[in-house]
Amino acid sequence: MLQIEQNISLKNFNTFGIDVSARYFVEINREDELTELFANPKWKATERLVLGGGSNLLLTKDFNGLVIRMNIRGIEHRINGNEAFVKAGAGEVWNDLVNYCVDHQFAGVENLSLIPGSVGASPIQNIGAYGVELKDVFYSCRAFEIATGAFKTFTKADCRFGYRESIFKQQKGQYIIVSVKFILSLTPNINTRYGAIEQELTNRGITRPSIKDISQVVSHIRVSKLPDPSTIGNAGSFFKNPVITAEAFKPIVIKYPNIVNFSAGEGFVKLAAGWLIEQCGWKGKVVGHTGTWKNQALVLVNHGGATGGEVYELSSQIIDSVYSKFGVMLEREVNIL
Ligand code: FAD
Ligand code: EPU
Repeated sequence: MLQIEQNISLKNFNTFGIDVSARYFVEINREDELTELFANPKWKATERLVLGGGSNLLLTKDFNGLVIRMNIRGIEHRINGNEAFVKAGAGEVWNDLVNYCVDHQFAGVENLSLIPGSVGASPIQNIGAYGVELKDVFYSCRAFEIATGAFKTFTKADCRFGYRESIFKQQKGQYIIVSVKFILSLTPNINTRYGAIEQELTNRGITRPSIKDISQVVSHIRVSKLPDPSTIGNAGSFFKNPVITAEAFKPIVIKYPNIVNFSAGEGFVKLAAGWLIEQCGWKGKVVGHTGTWKNQALVLVNHGGATGGEVYELSSQIIDSVYSKFGVMLEREVNIL
């Protein structure tokens, strides 16, 4: 029998550490519990929030609906030739899955080490870091369709992955992911192209890195740049890196020749939101209980006691100032509720 709790504080369920409450709260440990839950028309008609680790959320008010906390566990694998198929429950911690793969010598997720959150949320925004995106290792996922009560399998093509995008983000709230299947390689294809990876390998005197080395180096770089949510509330990058047309980029680069930019395919340029925000003077700034992180301006933080509304207000001010200086509109990456 499912336990539906009432008036639960969400403070320990979101990495911003925002203290709001949920009217109803249920933890899902097995797939059939979703069937049981939605057999009751009351829950079909109630506003819902599916929750993993709460590391990509900003809660701005008490939630008057049902929070569905995904806790389905289990990691298993099957080897076929040079490939390993790893299946994990939505409630597994993402970094535990990475460690499982690294320990078994399954290559592909090592650059995604130490990203907070759950396996079930990983396809939602197609998590990415250090030159790799989830889509590079995604095979399929199984999801519960709320409208029909059916379990459906989504292939990679079905998911329509893009930069911080997927069908699950576009069709918000229709599906609950219960497990994800990954395809990994028994032959490492070491990817050291991004940012400080090469430099850190050199510092460590490593010339032929293993996937474990990459995992450790990426974890080290991340810890040096990003605030640890267990001490400083945050949800990682608050905004997406904006992608603009090459045409729109021309006048900007003439005015700001040092602008950090990357090619984003024919005719498009990706800008570093962190750089834009820093140039507007926001880096490390403390505003009331909030601010931006001293080592990474793209990360908004809760210095203690902040409300979601305060963080949201700061994000609006940042959007305005980046727009008036560069004419570029930042888009929030974090889910706002
Ligand atoms: P939650 O915050 O619980 O939920 C996020 C969204 O997914 C919500 O809309 C929720 O309703 C939905 N959702 C969650 N689980 C399910 C499910 N099972 N089925 C359907 N919908 C679901 N992200 C990156 O991509 N790259 C990074 O490098 C990165 N670094 C970060 C660093 C820090 C310090 C922090 C705090 C966050 C970082 N993030 C990063 C963001 C975050 O880790 C990811 O977005 C992660 O996938 C969120 O997982 P979660 O379980 O916490 O999701
Ligand atoms: N930069 C600045 N000032 C800053 C921050 C960044 O000038 O305050 C410049 C850096 O010098 C660098 C560039 O911006 O030239 C890129 O910075 P970084 O490598 O730190 O990555 P990012 O673009 O800021 C993205 C992801 C991160 C991911 C890292 C590593 C987005 C929105 N963010 O950040 O993801 O970990 O790359 O791959 O794409 C997240 O989504 O929560 C997240 C942390």
